Amino acid sequence: MTASEPTKSAVTAIAHPNIALVKYWGKADGERNLPDVGSISITLDALAPRTTVALAESGDHFSLNESPEPAMSARLFGFLDHFYGADRPTLAVTSFNDFPTAAGLASSASGFAALVVAVDALLHGGHSTPTLAQQAGRGSGSAARSLFGGFVRLDKPTGIDDDITVTELCAAADFPLEVVVAITSEQRKTVGSTEGMRTSKQTSPFYPAWIETHEADMAAAAGAIAQRDFERLANISEHSCLKMHAVMQATRPAMLYWNSATVAWMHAVHALRASGTGVFFTIDAGPQVKAVCLPEHASAVADELASINGVQRILRTGLGKGARILSQGPN
Ligand code: PMV
Repeated sequence: MTASEPTKSAVTAIAHPNIALVKYWGKADGERNLPDVGSISITLDALAPRTTVALAESGDHFSLNESPEPAMSARLFGFLDHFYGADRPTLAVTSFNDFPTAAGLASSASGFAALVVAVDALLHGGHSTPTLAQQAGRGSGSAARSLFGGFVRLDKPTGIDDDITVTELCAAADFPLEVVVAITSEQRKTVGSTEGMRTSKQTSPFYPAWIETHEADMAAAAGAIAQRDFERLANISEHSCLKMHAVMQATRPAMLYWNSATVAWMHAVHALRASGTGVFFTIDAGPQVKAVCLPEHASAVADELASINGVQRILRTGLGKGARILSQGPN
């Protein structure tokens, strides 16, 4: 892929975070950032990070929420060099995030998804969504899923030279759900997912079982989504989440992302479900809990869970669309 002569000066794209119901943890190929397992996610709509990419004469520059981010900058511009060549135009990338960064809320996923959409429109244009999803996946495995809306399936490569395949299983409107997110800490996580996945693969005794049982979880979740079967989806999603955390916790050094509020939420969600409320939890590489609810139960879930000790704030969101362009400036 090379950069064409740009016909615009700036493009702003939006991409929502996604959360996996069948989790991804572990890489088959670190260099190409290819996963060892597939995943199934939902794309959210309320959290809306935006990224503007503009031609810049004074060299590459990246800022997040108006602060320069030198550490993330190297990763981001190295990623762009890979696709567009080191002789691409220099760029100013400005991102705004309305939720905690690097705290288990898929901030890198939505960031890379918005970036590939904006840069494609600025420097190239016309790549298909599945191709842009593959590109985003090189930046962050889960980013590939934010290119699509609703329920999204990512399949791992089947052959040695293959890439991931990303498809939309079902649009948001066809199986409406709401997500109540409990922010239990605004701190950045201490172990990033790349490092965590590497040590899990090397040291967790549960990693081989994780790989062995994963395809069955994918099939079960895809079946539950096809049949709009919330109860089955709840069971398989919590199973995948807890199995991933078991792999993490049995890694050396152990990764224990939960705090006491995280655990209290998990128990509260189980109590609600046992009393007939349509809700299940999922947790990523961080202490936030996402309670996935039937829309008619979301207000009751939010009210009940907001009162748990240690919950700093609650976000509510529905399911949303894939990454897209918001505006483009002419040359
Ligand atoms: O995309 P990464 O490299 O940040 O990995 C994300 C991994 C989890 O969020 C823990 C699970 C998932 O499938 O999103």
